[in-house]
Amino acid sequence: MRKYRPVRKAVFPVAGLGTRFLPATKAVPKEMLTIVDRPVIQYVVDEARAAGIEHFVFVTGRNKAVIEDHFDVQVELQNTLAERGRQEALDILARALPAPGQTSFTRQQAPLGLGHAVWCAREIVGNEPFALLLPDMLMQHERGCMSEMVELYGRTGGNIVSTEAVPWTETHKYGVVVKGEAVEGGFRLDGMVEKPAAGTAPSNLMINGRYILQPEIFAILASQQPGAGGEIQLTDAMLALARSQPFYGYTFTGRTFDCGSREGFIKANVAYAMTNPDMAGSLRPELEALLREPRR
Ligand code: UTP
Repeated sequence: MRKYRPVRKAVFPVAGLGTRFLPATKAVPKEMLTIVDRPVIQYVVDEARAAGIEHFVFVTGRNKAVIEDHFDVQVELQNTLAERGRQEALDILARALPAPGQTSFTRQQAPLGLGHAVWCAREIVGNEPFALLLPDMLMQHERGCMSEMVELYGRTGGNIVSTEAVPWTETHKYGVVVKGEAVEGGFRLDGMVEKPAAGTAPSNLMINGRYILQPEIFAILASQQPGAGGEIQLTDAMLALARSQPFYGYTFTGRTFDCGSREGFIKANVAYAMTNPDMAGSLRPELEALLREPRR
């Protein structure tokens, strides 16, 4: 018998404005920008599916309806492909699609912060633990970041925050954790600090955008006052929850790309293309030649 309530649902907050990617994100949500041959959000949903998640909750905003369309059947396209005998293309579409009834969409009516976006999912998640995946962050890893977190959760229960090591000189850019004693392949999380001033970080483990949270977080978010930037901050709510519930850290050892930034997005495109056998062979010499060219 399982010791802890299973993690069946995942929340994807996709209501941000994506200002770092304007003008590309004026009409197209940043989650729909393409990495090689699929939108960023598809990779993150696939990571959750691989971890055994059964229900996908998208917190969307204005201009994000295309995300809903992406995870729906496109009847005309399918009929045309079927008439033309394009089975391979039909298979690609089928693999990308969650089963009927596995998706829910709710709107964050104003971009009041990540904490507020998570709170908007409360009715759909209900009273059970849930995974939270920030769709900007692509995690390249053989087993999948969320799969490993769900496994750790099976041993620890409670709340889990994914972290990864960054150079000490960069800790001031991120939320970082206070690392406690080792537990069951993870560690006890003794605190979190948002963007610590240079030289004051308690560790070099940044919070990288994957969480498993207990539903009590919703009541805390409901009564929370706006924090930094006038937004409802998730970290503040997690710190409050940590007073009454255990929090653990998981250390991710794969590669993370922040696709909400232009550099991260380009790196992700190159890295994913290089793992694609159809592309890697021809791409490598071209990239090498490009890098040899004198700077313009
Ligand atoms: P970001 O900090 O990357 O914000 O949000 P952003 O608005 O999307 O992007 P920039 O900084 O303007 O370029 C982190 C995650 O939280 C979601 C975003 O969609 C992203 O997945 N988010 C943020 C919301 O859903 N609602 C919000 O009010 C804020």
